[in-house]
Amino acid sequence: MSTFIAILLSAATVFMILGIMRKARQYHATPAPLKIPVTPAPKSTGGVIIRMAKEIVFFNALFRASKWTWLFGWLFHVSLVLAFVRHTRYIIDPDGLFGFMMPVLNLWIVQTAGQYAAFGMIIGLAGLLARRFFVARVRYISSPSDYLMLVLIMAIAISGFFMSFVSGYAIDIVAMKVFMLGILNFDLQMLPESNALLIHLVLVAALGFVLPISKLLHIPGVFYAPTRNQVDNPREKRHIADWAKPLDKTRNDYPELVAAREANKEKA
Ligand code: HEM
Repeated sequence: MSTFIAILLSAATVFMILGIMRKARQYHATPAPLKIPVTPAPKSTGGVIIRMAKEIVFFNALFRASKWTWLFGWLFHVSLVLAFVRHTRYIIDPDGLFGFMMPVLNLWIVQTAGQYAAFGMIIGLAGLLARRFFVARVRYISSPSDYLMLVLIMAIAISGFFMSFVSGYAIDIVAMKVFMLGILNFDLQMLPESNALLIHLVLVAALGFVLPISKLLHIPGVFYAPTRNQVDNPREKRHIADWAKPLDKTRNDYPELVAAREANKEKA
């Protein structure tokens, strides 16, 4: 079983990283031929950086759009970050390159915030799920995959919650770390025996596989949204997409334009 889980997690990680990179390249290469920042928009690059930071940290646009969705969505994402920070202890070797981070990761506040983030995740996801069931307008546009993503992450959080908070489900954390470091060092170690952990890890692998082919691609996608990342300067600087630059040089040579010029000359 240890071998199976090690291979599954490794495959899911490679698939996820390559998948996200491929998609990010595709987003990068997608032309944005028009100036379409949602106004009021910043007039400088510095302003755009601040706008993006506010969007990513506080979900500004969502806050303006829907307070309930913002509340549950933001709670879930902040909890995810806190849980992620707590989880890094499993893959950081105290004697390795990132070992210097261990004293910070081991701080009581960091570990406790990460542990209680399980509540934030479950409450946030339950709110987002309830929204899809009970808000008619949202239910109408929800597809099975919208529900599936929420249920998948919820199941990961609940299995984690059991290991963390419910007596009888606690696992050997040190053995867990030895197993994860074993994967990273290509030196397979035994996975602690626990059904909750098995469920947790199989679902985590499923999340890794589904991430680059699902709506969860908003993780890299947010950075490429032209409505957010463009500077509002269409009057100061002519906007022209890279792919249109060669066409721009010959735009006066179109037969219709040449003919119109000739006709005007004749009239004059
Ligand atoms: C390979 C990746 C992962 C491993 C090895 C792992 C392992 C674990 C372990 C051993 C626990 C129990 C912690 C304890 O008893 O103190 C736990 C808890 C938890 N896990 Fe994971 N997990 C992984 C990925 C994830 C992911 C991707 C999520 C979220 C989407 C997640 C969410 C949680 C939550 C919410 C808890 C409960 C709070 C806590 O104790 O941290 N885990 N995980």
